[in-house]
Amino acid sequence: MERPEIKTPPPGPKAKAILKEHRKYISHSYPKGPELVFDRAKDVWIWDVDGNKYLDMLAGVAVNSTGHLHPEVLQAVHEVLNRFLHVSTDFYHDLEVTLAKKLASIFPREGDNQMVFFTNSGTESTEASLKLARWHTKRQYFIAFEGSFHGRTFGSLSVTSSKTVHRAHFSPLVPGVFFIPYPNAYRPPFNAPPDRASDQLIDYIENVLFDRIVPPEEVAAFVLEPIQGEGGYVLPLPDFFPKLRALADKYGILLISDEVQAGLGRTGKWFGIEHWNTVPDIIGVAKGIASGLPMGAMIAKAEIMDWPQGAHANTFGGNPVAAAAAIKTLELIENGLMENARVVGEYFLSRLRELQKSYEEMGDVRGKGLMIGIEFVKDRESKEPYPEFRDRVVYEMFRRGVVTLGCGPTSLRFSPPLVIRREHVDVAVEILEESLKAAREELSR
Ligand SMILES: Cc1ncc(COP(=O)(O)O)c(C=O)c1O
Repeated sequence: MERPEIKTPPPGPKAKAILKEHRKYISHSYPKGPELVFDRAKDVWIWDVDGNKYLDMLAGVAVNSTGHLHPEVLQAVHEVLNRFLHVSTDFYHDLEVTLAKKLASIFPREGDNQMVFFTNSGTESTEASLKLARWHTKRQYFIAFEGSFHGRTFGSLSVTSSKTVHRAHFSPLVPGVFFIPYPNAYRPPFNAPPDRASDQLIDYIENVLFDRIVPPEEVAAFVLEPIQGEGGYVLPLPDFFPKLRALADKYGILLISDEVQAGLGRTGKWFGIEHWNTVPDIIGVAKGIASGLPMGAMIAKAEIMDWPQGAHANTFGGNPVAAAAAIKTLELIENGLMENARVVGEYFLSRLRELQKSYEEMGDVRGKGLMIGIEFVKDRESKEPYPEFRDRVVYEMFRRGVVTLGCGPTSLRFSPPLVIRREHVDVAVEILEESLKAAREELSR
């Protein structure tokens, strides 16, 4: 079986030289994970500049959805390279139309009466969603969730609340955003029993927020993640979003589903929100859409995307090279990878749940498809977060050649390429177990 190979403990000498210059010349504001300096990558494997080989269980944070350098994606890109690199959104080309048609058709409601605005990143998809919601409703307020992450530009940052470091010294942000607890299934809001927590949260929105703080007829949209990503791979209470949809309909409020991390097949369905039987009005995507090329999109019901020429635009949206990669990526996802994510994801979860029996620190193992998180706790009863343990496990896995990343206060995420197979999961779980043991040893010293 193919396995990671660590010949020189990372970071090796070549990596160290690049890290040194990186630190001198590149902004220190980027959060950093393990010190992995890429040389090249193929399929689910990454080689660093010192010749070490790693199993990629992260996919550049849910981006390399078809694995690294999928030959069909490369071929689609090469074909465009013979035609043009850039067209500008002032003009037209076939590839963005083909892609928009596909995105319109996979929106989770009957028919394809949707329209698309192309972006280059997740934050831009959020910005477009917020602007469209304000434009269409002529309302000003937004309601977002605690622990959310929607991006780092001013609008998206204003609806983000996963860490104060994202916000410190950047205020004033966009005004008019109210935060409510996320319907966290592991840590239900208000410490309510799980079967009553959704109702209590809905009751809070309607009878406290809408009654005392913000008039519902001035709220443009709820902004949600169907599974929280940066906040810790948090699953919602399964009955919450349908109830939120009903409440939103009552007051003419839109639902924006930010699917930048959960969307486009990763969870075993096109969109994370489909797991909760809820139809949003606007969807934001990016990350995995083009297998690694920068691209994003806002997809909205056509009756909502009623803004006029000039109201919103950009230079690079629908870039033909990224669009060609995205068309092929969606085709591969539809023709097998989404199903693979579902099946291999279930296997992965079952292997992790088995391991959980022997490791008290694995407080919660959860996920959908290949969006899987482990929340670490000091003990299962108190659910006290254990971030030092999480950090150590990420590090120990890296040292042994498996790439993952933390998320949220105390979780570890697996967001591998959607092409991974059972044997890769077996390697990852074996190395996770060694890493759990090593973390225990280290932290008990
Ligand atoms: C749910 C969600 N929305 C938005 C973003 C922002 O995406 P980007 O970094 O491409 O701007 C992210 C990035 O992690 C995300 O997870």
